[in-house]
Amino acid sequence: MFRMLRCLLITGMLVIFLVQPVLAVDGKKLYTAKFCITCHGKQGISVAPNYPNLARQNPEYMKIQVRDIIDGKRKNKLTLLMTGNPVVMKTTDEEIAAIAKYLATLE
Ligand code: HEC
Repeated sequence: MFRMLRCLLITGMLVIFLVQPVLAVDGKKLYTAKFCITCHGKQGISVAPNYPNLARQNPEYMKIQVRDIIDGKRKNKLTLLMTGNPVVMKTTDEEIAAIAKYLATLE
């Protein structure tokens, strides 16, 4: 019985280990998990007239802009909305690339 439980536990951990990296770079999920959606809107259409829409934006351009905003190279009163969010600040290049790819597909 104990051996069986241990076997199940190990299998479970292995499944989590194998599935997690796939989830980690799911652009659609990350767009919500990283709070981008709260400002840039459900379909990439922003929630305020002075926030940019991101639907169908060029992914290469978005990657550079997000990196510059996080690094403080692009800085103004509105970029503070992004840099003030610790979750946004912790977004990796790989995650930004996945989000940008997802946004580019939105109509
Ligand atoms: C609290 C609101 C807020 C959150 C959260 C937020 N953004 Fe932004 N974002 C803005 C605003 C406002 C600007 C415009 C900054 C400016 O005027 O320079 C912006 C700019 C951008 C730009 C540049 C757009 C352009 O046309 O140059 C990109 C790309 C972007 N955000 C992506 C993201 C991503 C990806 C996330 C999540 C990781 C995110 N944003 C989270 C408010 C937000």
